[in-house]
Amino acid sequence: MEVTVFNGSPRPRGNTSALVERIVEGLKAGGVGGRTVTLYDKDLRGCSNCGACQRGEVPGFCTMEDDMQDLYRTFLEADTVLIASPVYMWQLTPCALSFLNRLHALKAEGRDLMKGKGLALAVTMGDGSECADSAVMGIIDFCEYFGMDFLGMVRIPYAERGQILDGTHDERIGSFVDRLCAAVRSG
Ligand SMILES: Cc1cc2nc3c(=O)[nH]c(=O)nc-3n(C[C@H](O)[C@H](O)[C@H](O)COP(=O)(O)O)c2cc1C
Repeated sequence: MEVTVFNGSPRPRGNTSALVERIVEGLKAGGVGGRTVTLYDKDLRGCSNCGACQRGEVPGFCTMEDDMQDLYRTFLEADTVLIASPVYMWQLTPCALSFLNRLHALKAEGRDLMKGKGLALAVTMGDGSECADSAVMGIIDFCEYFGMDFLGMVRIPYAERGQILDGTHDERIGSFVDRLCAAVRSG
């Protein structure tokens, strides 16, 4: 039982990374493993819409030879994933969006490799929670399109690393982790 976290923050010691640390700690306390993969440090280009994945022309899913090839393997091994990201311009970060766009290669004529996996979302932002509305809606639509189970989200408004670590947001983080643990345990 494990959750694979894909962290789209560029800052290893920033707000989102602190949130991920707290979530992984909580998962472990609930008997669920947590593995974190950072995206910003990867060679991860945006989808070029060449269409080869949709025509089933590439054995490695995508024509681009970058770190996404390893990320496909990591993603496919996971039953449950958590997308973590700061909000940038009412959206997820560019690397998180590149990652999500490139996953499109896993659903094409004759293959449906994302179906049935669970996905949760964790976002931090500088302003109020409503700043993440577009990003949240995008993820809910993403799950519906790919047949994934949306397992909920946690948003940290007016995020500050110190407050994420000192317990200020524990109620919010704790109830999210409890729901995620329960979803993972129930399979
Ligand atoms: C380029 C950029 C765009 C941002 N856009 C938003 C935004 O639209 N809404 C918001 O509330 N915060 C915005 N922020 C603030 C970040 O979401 C916030 O500081 C976040 O917690 C940073 O996470 P990190 O420490 O993991 O990088 C933006 C920050 C940057 C650098």
